[in-house]
Amino acid sequence: MTAILGISAFYHDSAAALVVDGRVVAAAQEERFTRVKHDHEFPKNAVEFCLRHAGIDPADIDAVGFYDKPLLKFERLLETYLATAPRGFASFAQAMPLWLKQKLFLPREIRKGLTGPKGRYKRRVVFVEHHESHAASAFFPSPFDEAAVVTLDGVGEWAAATIGKGEGNRVTLLKEQRFPHSLGLLYSAFTYFTGFRVNSGEYKLMGLAPYGEPRYEALIREKLIDLREDGSFRLNMDYFTFPHALRMTGRKFAELFGGPERSPEAPLTQREMDIAASIQRVTEEVMLRTARHALELTGSKNLCLAGGVALNCVGNGRILRESPFERIWVQPAAGDAGGALGVALFTWHQLLGNPRTASPHDSQEGSRLGPAFTPEEVESELTALGARFTRLESDEALVRAAADHLTGQRVVGWFQGRMEFGPRALGGRSILGDARSPKMQSEINLKTKFREGFRPFAPIVLEHRVREWFDLPKQHDSPYMLIVAPVAAQRRVPVDEGASGLDKLRVVRSSIPAVTHVDHSARVQTVDQRRDPLLFALLTEFEARTGCPVLINTSFNVRSEPIVCTPGDAYRCFMASRIDTLFVGRCVLRKEDQPDAAKLDIDAHLAKFIPD
Ligand SMILES: [Fe+2]
Repeated sequence: MTAILGISAFYHDSAAALVVDGRVVAAAQEERFTRVKHDHEFPKNAVEFCLRHAGIDPADIDAVGFYDKPLLKFERLLETYLATAPRGFASFAQAMPLWLKQKLFLPREIRKGLTGPKGRYKRRVVFVEHHESHAASAFFPSPFDEAAVVTLDGVGEWAAATIGKGEGNRVTLLKEQRFPHSLGLLYSAFTYFTGFRVNSGEYKLMGLAPYGEPRYEALIREKLIDLREDGSFRLNMDYFTFPHALRMTGRKFAELFGGPERSPEAPLTQREMDIAASIQRVTEEVMLRTARHALELTGSKNLCLAGGVALNCVGNGRILRESPFERIWVQPAAGDAGGALGVALFTWHQLLGNPRTASPHDSQEGSRLGPAFTPEEVESELTALGARFTRLESDEALVRAAADHLTGQRVVGWFQGRMEFGPRALGGRSILGDARSPKMQSEINLKTKFREGFRPFAPIVLEHRVREWFDLPKQHDSPYMLIVAPVAAQRRVPVDEGASGLDKLRVVRSSIPAVTHVDHSARVQTVDQRRDPLLFALLTEFEARTGCPVLINTSFNVRSEPIVCTPGDAYRCFMASRIDTLFVGRCVLRKEDQPDAAKLDIDAHLAKFIPD
């Protein structure tokens, strides 16, 4: 047996992944265990989970891979500082302590974290380039024997984007675009400017885009970015402050957009919506051109994507519709957490030379690579928390009960099997609801997740029904919720468009309004029997009762908290929100049955999130 541990850490989204004899057996992000969102510390808990899952000790690991090359990154930091000195001193000084304490001494730090009953891990620690890790995470688990590989993110060591070719057990980078000319940082600059959090608010900016008109697109193309036909570009660095400041944009940038950035608590105005629409269009254009160029360079009809920008599922949808690629596969953990999985597979295939046989369905296992809990563990955790639950005798009974609650317009917490690897909940740690309900979108957003209500939820749909409900092109599936497609024309309803701004979301535009965005788009997840038999059965049952094979699927968490990991996390989140019914394995918990003492927590919790 050969066990390879992949680690990403010390930047954001620390994670661990374990590959045993070429198969990814476990992967998880540290934040789920520590409950600290985007936790960047050494992923002690994620490593422990991976090793426990495989029943091995740190001393038994054959190789450890780290997802980037810290010395090259350090060189970039120094060079950037010297090039902009003395302007960048504040950010330089802020970054230094962590480098001097941990990042420059990574083998030591990693070995320190890998100690078990049999002693400390003593073998090699391999460092792979950041974009090689992303590219490996995109290609090796993909269903393709050969493919073009595109990575797009903020920045690794120097590269911010690469084009490569995957073939058999190798992935080779052919071309790169370097810092500071980065699509990820450009998008993040606009995320910052529109008042969202960099490295997590990018989704919000993308969700806001359909409300606006791209009236700044020409300005961005003229002043900020010199975009070439092959998707490469140069940013006009007069307008950006990210290489040397703690903020992303400065005075000149603000002048261009008619005033300073939105402060996070200020209301969203038409300007932010138009800016969002504009930068989204530019981003899609870069993604499309890069994809087309990747096809020219590699001659492949298959495309693999990873890096944070690959989470831009609107852009992915356009690549699928408008580029000549026949099939695309996006690594579900496209951000830096996925680098852990990438470096482990890179070590197995590329460094150790082991052959690879692509599985026709991919080798990501539905991305259900995290912890699962036995019925005994579930019941003892719930009992310890004073939860009141009933136990169902079979999966059939579970599916029927869940369908009862969903058709009864209750919000359902759905905790089943292994936790997902990647930022999306795919049916392991999900909140489900009736997508036909016009009220469900705001119900779940405001009362359950305590967040801005301007984004619709993602739909899950039976894979063999998807084309009756969504225009997913080229006979493609979307098992990882990473492709946006329009709601099918026959499901739309005529709209009396009097609404403006965020009120547009309240207008019913289709027979599944809770998952239909204001431009009729939807972030689709297709569900098949092989990847998730239980969720497949639930959608089948729901369709038998209602004629609709679609449900809302949103992640099981409340605003600003990581997705739940354990049954205990699920119970606490259930009690602190307005989820009506919780299914943990075959245990059913109705909110009205729970002890009053626990219910009191709801008010305290709500007060924290919703000031009156
Ligand atoms: Fe990255």
